[in-house]
Amino acid sequence: MNENPAASDWSAARGEKWRAQLAGMEAMITPVDEPLIRALHLDAPCRIADIGCGGGWTTLEILRRARAGSVVHGFDISPALIELARARKRSEERAVAFEIADMATAAAPEEPYDQLVSRFGIMFFDDPPAAFANLARWLAPGGRFAFAVWGPLAENPWMTTVREVVAEIIDMPPPEPQAPGPFRYAEADKLLVLLDRAGFGEMEVGDWRGALPIGGGLPAAEAANFALASFSSFGELLAEAGDEELNAARQSLTARFSRHQQEGAVRMDACVHIFTGARLGYRQEE
Ligand SMILES: C[S@@+](CC[C@H](N)C(=O)[O-])C[C@H]1O[C@@H](n2cnc3c(N)ncnc32)[C@H](O)[C@@H]1O
Repeated sequence: MNENPAASDWSAARGEKWRAQLAGMEAMITPVDEPLIRALHLDAPCRIADIGCGGGWTTLEILRRARAGSVVHGFDISPALIELARARKRSEERAVAFEIADMATAAAPEEPYDQLVSRFGIMFFDDPPAAFANLARWLAPGGRFAFAVWGPLAENPWMTTVREVVAEIIDMPPPEPQAPGPFRYAEADKLLVLLDRAGFGEMEVGDWRGALPIGGGLPAAEAANFALASFSSFGELLAEAGDEELNAARQSLTARFSRHQQEGAVRMDACVHIFTGARLGYRQEE
């Protein structure tokens, strides 16, 4: 497992890892749902597709806030995550469905969606121009999208603090901002250009800044364990290095996190870009 998971990693080991850490990861990033869902247009019944839905938390949250008559479908490349999302769905939630799909290439449905949404699910495509052109086909002309991606590393100490601690103990390759990975669109212009070329327009980028409860609200030592086990490939790299290195990382991160602990929970600052826009009319070549 490397630091830059591609789609193929997510369909296997990375998806399993997200599933194993799901409760803590979802509780940690749930503050992002509010600005992301606010960026959707839920004032009338509509069809919404959640891209890279993972365990389906946001998909279900959207369904609960959407107007009666709406349908919300979650798509993810990881069979393990789709299985879990399906199990979470309550029997009366008939307007929600979860499907395994590689959204970079999956054929568009006969009836395209009115809105696309994604919480951190669109940064892992192997061929982003082709993948975003494919996503455009999933949206009806004039249909809208709202995508959340991580902002600059410098404004996301929840991640850089952990990376710095690990890099003090073992050799870490430098981050690869061009490769698939969570911070790939930290420079918003990169994604704006891709979306524009794929046929999207009327685009805006809003930034959400706030504090994320590490692991959902854990004290420093537990938060350090959670971060090392869940974020990126730090846990795997430290396990390869040995017990001494892992213990040193735990201690050092616990000390760093304790400076950010209040009322028993470590909270670290984060910055998220929320991209919104619409699919423009059909292009001539279609
Ligand atoms: C960081 S997780 C976010 C999951 C979920 N949206 C959430 O916020 O809880 C990224 C998700 O994108 C999915 N993913 C990555 N590449 C994908 C692709 N090509 N097609 C569909 N899903 C993909 C992964 O399997 C994973 O569930």
